[in-house]
Amino acid sequence: MFDDSQDPSDECLRRAATRRAVLKTALGLGLSLPFLEVVVAATDDSRDAPPKVGDRFVFVLGDRKGEVIKAEDLALGGPQQLAYPMDPTSKIVRDGSRLNEVVLIRLDPEQLTRETRANAAEGVVAYSAICTHQGCDVSQWKSEQRTLLCVCHGAEYDPRDRAKVVAGPAPRRLAMLPIKIEEGVLVVAGAFTGRPGFREM
Ligand code: FES
Repeated sequence: MFDDSQDPSDECLRRAATRRAVLKTALGLGLSLPFLEVVVAATDDSRDAPPKVGDRFVFVLGDRKGEVIKAEDLALGGPQQLAYPMDPTSKIVRDGSRLNEVVLIRLDPEQLTRETRANAAEGVVAYSAICTHQGCDVSQWKSEQRTLLCVCHGAEYDPRDRAKVVAGPAPRRLAMLPIKIEEGVLVVAGAFTGRPGFREM
């Protein structure tokens, strides 16, 4: 079961505290503002920072672990691929928090709802991999139903319709991560549309 101690709001508070500590120390040393901006930017460039616009995705498992994922790596019609975002400059993989774990799946764009297509890229959609029921990984694909399945208690989500819950005990849909494609590579295009994780808001 997922440890929800990694609540995004907790992470925000922790990062804010880190920023304050860095600024306080740097100001005490008489450092200039441009230098401080560089230092503060570096604190955001961490393994547990949430996905940022421009991040790439890398494989989490298997022979290709750590490789950047292209749209063509995903089979049309599923199954999903587990992935973490990666900063393209520092090459830091944001695997310090499970809340950054996403599933990528490539579907027929014509089958996506209008709202889903708005955050998809040529039929590829990205969702939080954390089941909103009790935090297991949404790890299975039901090809007949074309739903994402959490095997812990049977929650199913429809990736064609912003991962709405279509079966099982999950209380809410998976958070969607907007994406785009640049030179064939999948790229983060915005923040999660909802809150990843399983605790009720
Ligand atoms: Fe996914 Fe219960 S944790 S269905």
